Amino acid sequence: MISQFIDRKRELAILEREWKNTPSFVVIYGRRRVGKTRLLVEFSKGKKVFFYTFMEGTKESQVKSLAKELVDFFNDEIFLSFSDWYPLFKYLSGKLMEKLSLYSTSLPMQLKAIEAS
Ligand SMILES: Nc1ncnc2c1ncn2[C@@H]1O[C@H](COP(=O)(O)OP(=O)(O)O)[C@@H](O)[C@H]1O
Ligand SMILES: [Mg+2]
Repeated sequence: MISQFIDRKRELAILEREWKNTPSFVVIYGRRRVGKTRLLVEFSKGKKVFFYTFMEGTKESQVKSLAKELVDFFNDEIFLSFSDWYPLFKYLSGKLMEKLSLYSTSLPMQLKAIEAS
């Protein structure tokens, strides 16, 4: 069972402000278990969001895994045709007709794969 969400009023206010400001790029960082993911989960309630957590792996496996989730979210198989970040995000940006938050958690995993490729 998920516990009651406590405090984080300031952080929620910042996210709400940025949400109104499109486009916006927000980085949330902090030590493990400090509440980064939970903050995003609470903020997402009632909003249309695409929430994705990167796993460790090669660039190819990460692109494919993200693409599969995007296929489900947008009901669009074209995402499966991309094998690199740039074309995938370029196509994705063209699909963002309405306000949508894209969450990527565990960015270090993604950066590690970019570095290795
Ligand atoms: N503001 C909060 N109120 C209550 N519980 C919280 C809060 N923030 C985090 N938690 C709980 O603490 C634990 C760790 O939070 P999590 O968001 O997974 O951390 P992180 O993503 O920073 O590693 C989870 O069980 C989460 O539900
Ligand atoms: Mg987390």
